[in-house]
Amino acid sequence: MNFLLLIGSLRADSYNRKVAEAYIKLAGARAKFIEGDFSKFPLYNEEIQAQGFPVEVTALADQIRTSDAVLIVSPEYNYSVPGALKNALDWVSRLKDQPFAGKACSVIGASVGGIGTARMQYHLRQIGVFLDMQFMTKPEIMVGKVQGLIDESGKLSDAVTLEFLRKHFDAFEKFAARTNQPSGDRTEPARPSDSRSASE
Ligand code: FNR
Repeated sequence: MNFLLLIGSLRADSYNRKVAEAYIKLAGARAKFIEGDFSKFPLYNEEIQAQGFPVEVTALADQIRTSDAVLIVSPEYNYSVPGALKNALDWVSRLKDQPFAGKACSVIGASVGGIGTARMQYHLRQIGVFLDMQFMTKPEIMVGKVQGLIDESGKLSDAVTLEFLRKHFDAFEKFAARTNQPSGDRTEPARPSDSRSASE
């Protein structure tokens, strides 16, 4: 499957980038990841949009459209979504045939504090409601105190965290396959009433 990766931190030495790198390594040959770049997007302005969408925006939209799923790995800034990532979402949201609609998405995040980006993740999920992003609900991954999980070579090497990431990928791969099925072919989960016997 083809995954598009969006990293909410623009800095090269980002902890979230290290988490994403570990995730991609764990996924191995089962997934192809490409990274979307929104670092050169202008700040959203309807007057810029009126002159035509910037090429960087339409390029990202094409990457979203052609991916099977989008993985967002992001820090939390002031209890919310980092501005650059929010700006990217705002730009993409103004396109016709808005590319996130119906797309399988997931968010994970790492922070140096203990809460591990929980507040950012729920704000992002809220934004996703309006954009019709199909967020996987669980498993959730909030990596707190990430600075203590990085080894001397600069890689995320904490065994417990890596196991969480592996389980997340297993679930996300299945979720993406399910979300991408034409709706007529989708196998609905059994409802409690379906499994009751007639005598109940
Ligand atoms: C932060 N940081 C932070 N951490 C957190 O847990 N909750 C928060 O609300 C914030 N707010 C915040 C705002 C701004 C502007 C910055 C620069 C930082 C700290 C953050 O977790 C830390 O800087 C991470 O290292 C950022 O992620 P990357 O860049 O390492 O991926």
